[in-house]
Formats: sequence, C-alpha cells, structure tokens
Amino acid sequence: MDRGIALRRAAQTDVVFLGDMLVEAANWRAGGVRPRHEVLTSADHQRYLAGWKRTADEGLVATDDRDVPLGAAWYRVLPQNDAGFGFIGVAVPELIIGVHPLWRARGVGRALLRGVIQLAGAQGHARISLSVERDNFARNLYRAEGFAVVGEGATRDTMARRTL
Ligand SMILES: CC(C)(COP(=O)(O)OP(=O)(O)OC[C@H]1O[C@@H](n2cnc3c(N)ncnc32)[C@H](O)[C@@H]1OP(=O)(O)O)[C@@H](O)C(=O)NCCC(=O)NCCS
Repeated sequence: MDRGIALRRAAQTDVVFLGDMLVEAANWRAGGVRPRHEVLTSADHQRYLAGWKRTADEGLVATDDRDVPLGAAWYRVLPQNDAGFGFIGVAVPELIIGVHPLWRARGVGRALLRGVIQLAGAQGHARISLSVERDNFARNLYRAEGFAVVGEGATRDTMARRTL
C-alpha cells in the first residue's frame, strides 16, 4: 500500500462513502452502470447498508493523508430471513468491499481485506463469508487471502474463511 494511506474504523458518518463502495461492488464489471439510487434501494443490496451503523456492524475505511476515503470493507450479520448472497449461517458476518476506481491495484483492497478479517476475529466472529461473481478477479484475491468456496450458485460463489 502507498505511503500515507491508513486504515481506520468505519463510523456512522461514513455511510455515504460506504454507499459509494457498495455501488462500485454492484457495478464491478467494466461498464457497469447501475445508478446509485437503484443499487442502494434494491432488495439485493440495501440489506448490506440500510441503517448503518447497527450493533455488530463493523468495518474499515482506507484514507489518504488528508482523511479522504479511498476504499472500504465492512461486514454485517444478517438474519436468516433476510439472508445476503453470501449467507452461510446465523451469526456469521458477511463482508462487502470496494475501492475507488482511481485507487485500485495499489494494495488497498488487500490491506482492507486483511484488516477486516482481523477486526471480525477481534469482535468474536470465528468465520466470515462473502459472495463473488465467478468472473470477478476479486475471487483470486479472496482465495489468496485464505477464503475457500463453500457454495456455488449459477454465476456466483459463496466463500468463507476462519478469522483466526
Ligand atoms: C476488488 C477490489 C476491492 C480489490 O481492491 P484493489 O485495491 O484493487 O486490490 P489490490 O491492489 O489489493 O490487489 C489485490 C490483487 O488483485 C490483483 N488485481 C488488482 N486489480 C486487478 C485487475 N483489474 N485484474 C486482475 N487482477 C487485479 C492485484 O494484482 C493483486 O494481486 P497481486 O498482489 O498478487 O498482484 C477492487 O478492485 C474493487 O473495488 N473492485 C470493484 C468492486 C468489487 O469487485 N468488489 C468486490 C465484489 S465481491
């Protein structure tokens, strides 16, 4: 990661930036253009951020040396009756990650991923899960960082790893 980039805990006031990163995650494919409002209100995505920051919501924001946010990774524990794409069990948090396009491929995503895994472990979660479309290169990053495929859908995989 470049000098001057730091990670800090995500606060309630980071909700707009986290929304930006959720839109990036939804639009990960080159040319993805789902409008912000549509992503943030869609049944598939709103569950990852609505009401942030609830009890048990946790995350990290990567910032430059002036505290401008560059990327974020966070997790939320979703109930079985409102399960996300990456649901693997009650009380297992699901991870979301996004880095601003101008700051990609500079180590920010990997640093966020490592940090948020550690944070989840420190908060008492033994496992963490995520969902990734099979042709997203991020899948290789997750695998390199210890995630294994635990479920396969038509186009996306559920991956999980222990936090310790
Ligand atoms: C996925 C994402 C969070 C990764 O963050 P990042 O800061 O770009 O990643 P890093 O710089 O830490 O790179 C991690 C690895 O991915 C590789 N990588 C980065 N960009 C890549 C690209 N466009 N294609 C292929 N590999 C790439 C890097 O080479 C690196 O591996 P290496 O260290 O072995 O070289 C970021 O690209 C992103 O926000 N993408 C859009 C949103 C998204 O897809 N979110 C995940 C949804 S499941």
